[in-house]
Amino acid sequence: MVQASPTTFSDFAVTWRPRIDTALAEAVRFDAGCSPRLREAIEYSLLAPGKRLRPLLALAACRACGGNVEAALPAACAVEMIHCYSLIHDDLPAMDDDDLRRGRPTNHKVFGEGLAVLAGDALLTAAFEVLATQIDSPETAVRCTAELAVAAGAARLIGGQADDLAEEGKVPEAAPPANRTNAQALAQLEAIHRRKTGAMLLVSLRLGGHAAGASDEQLAALDAYGERLGLTFQIMDDLLDVSGSQESMGKRVGKDAARGKLTFPGLLGLEESRQRATVLTAEAIASLAPLGSEVEVLEDLARYVVERNH
Ligand code: IPE
Ligand code: IPE
Ligand code: MG
Ligand code: MG
Ligand code: MG
Repeated sequence: MVQASPTTFSDFAVTWRPRIDTALAEAVRFDAGCSPRLREAIEYSLLAPGKRLRPLLALAACRACGGNVEAALPAACAVEMIHCYSLIHDDLPAMDDDDLRRGRPTNHKVFGEGLAVLAGDALLTAAFEVLATQIDSPETAVRCTAELAVAAGAARLIGGQADDLAEEGKVPEAAPPANRTNAQALAQLEAIHRRKTGAMLLVSLRLGGHAAGASDEQLAALDAYGERLGLTFQIMDDLLDVSGSQESMGKRVGKDAARGKLTFPGLLGLEESRQRATVLTAEAIASLAPLGSEVEVLEDLARYVVERNH
């Protein structure tokens, strides 16, 4: 029996994570045209123990906007599938060159680079299949598809990843200007974080809102919350790369500095980065006011993001 209405993020997650995991497994049951090894590579990363933060955001936003949480499950799957593909590609040698993810060897370490690229491609494509085939209302399906395509596309997720690579010197002829001031570097860093990480968190909330038939006012509140949550999330990711442990994070730490990445702690130091995350979290929570009563899970989730150690 599903608990009626949990109010903490951790209770909400305990209730809904298994439903998300089942729906994800179903979403990648491709027909026999998918070779067994490709299927294995896809499932290896998608069904690994991630936090499922983006799907939980979609479900919690749906509830906060007065919807039936189940209606947001297709959106929840789609955002996790895109997130998972972005992690597989982010870990490739041509990008961050990582060997550990979600507590396991990265996809390319197990399946080889070629199949890892293709497993990511398959997840990206299948995410849109889920939206197109599993959302009952054609109007909602089209809206979710269009918004997710923008968030995952060249001006958001991919754009942020491209600028992140350029900062590291991995994009020939797109090096950052040598005489850049600290304020300019900070503005560039925020712009990268908003796109490479924030856009997917924000669109997860909006898709959950659409599943509930949210009003423009409700969507604006989700936007205000999501903008701040997204930035906080990547600030914390940067901080945890400095002060977190590999064991709790399930991925290597201390690599951003070694790679010369542009990061919050690198630019502002640990204390100021933490303060920024705390202020943004308070603002995120305050932004939820127009949504009314069912916002406890989103409030608690914002606190979890800034307090997390994994
Ligand atoms: C990691 O995301 C990549 C970033 C955007 C910083 P998560 O920390 O949500 O990773 P999983 O999904 O729990 O593995
Ligand atoms: C990755 O950011 C963001 C995306 C995957 C789009 P990071 O490179 O900082 O993520 P981790 O630290 O490898 O999880
Ligand atoms: Mg990266
Ligand atoms: Mg990385
Ligand atoms: Mg990181």
